[in-house]
Amino acid sequence: MNYLHGFHAGNHADVLKHAALMALLTYLKAKEKPLFVLDSHGGRGAYDLTAPEALRSGEYQQGIARLIGAADAPAPFQPYLRAIEAANPRGGLSVYPGSPVLVARALRVQDRLVACDLHPKEAEILKETLYPWPRARVEARDGYGALRALLPPPERRGLILIDPPFEKKTEFSDLADAMTQAWKRFPGGVYLVWYPLKDRAGADMFLSRIKAGGMRDATTYELFVRDPEAAPGMAGSGLLALNASFALDPAMDQIGPWLAARLAQGPGARFTKTRLTAE
Ligand SMILES: C[S@@+](CC[C@H](N)C(=O)[O-])C[C@H]1O[C@@H](n2cnc3c(N)ncnc32)[C@H](O)[C@@H]1O
Repeated sequence: MNYLHGFHAGNHADVLKHAALMALLTYLKAKEKPLFVLDSHGGRGAYDLTAPEALRSGEYQQGIARLIGAADAPAPFQPYLRAIEAANPRGGLSVYPGSPVLVARALRVQDRLVACDLHPKEAEILKETLYPWPRARVEARDGYGALRALLPPPERRGLILIDPPFEKKTEFSDLADAMTQAWKRFPGGVYLVWYPLKDRAGADMFLSRIKAGGMRDATTYELFVRDPEAAPGMAGSGLLALNASFALDPAMDQIGPWLAARLAQGPGARFTKTRLTAE
């Protein structure tokens, strides 16, 4: 396990993922009923954008740094922008909040978060970071194991974020296996899964297994910031959402094209929404 999210925090992929996460949470909290959130690959929770790894990669400068304070941001993007501002109370942009912190800050008294990370150090730092939020619990464990152990939740209303590091060649097939099992256990859950678009064939294999697995209301939202052939590196990433089109479609219809324009690094920047299976 060599992956360290500190190199990538706040990049275009984080912006896409976290803007969708915040739009979904905003929608789900409109109902009073308790909500359970499972963040299977949580990371350390907060990232220092002045740290050598963030400065060396410079990825956040092509991501969140281009958007902070944007006057033309669409309304569904506002919960995410407000959350980034809340993580930087003195203004500027020195801290990037990871998914567990974004969720923990959004929890109401009736809600609950379990965030997992297999890396013992990341999990330890996450525990310290989430200390102020008693409704948030950290488990140092395999995220796919957590899906098996914790679904379905007693609340019967759940948002499951799956954001693996894609270090292993088998990650797409591991993810498809895990999704198939999770869906069987908890078909009513709202799922948000992030995937990189470096290996189109791998991503398509994963998405075809989602279709074949009978999962309902599956939609993908993909953002490229440039033509993937133009230069090495990750030119784009996607989100697979299940049971979420009612909330995410209207939000991403506004957020996606705006991000493609604002985060473009060259020709080929685009946003695409694809409905994989019907509701
Ligand atoms: C992309 S990062 C997560 C970022 C985080 N979701 C966010 O948005 O702020 C992936 C994380 O998964 C952790 N990880 C790697 N393999 C794992 C596994 N099998 N189960 C849980 N966590 C794992 C890594 O240590 C890393 O912190």
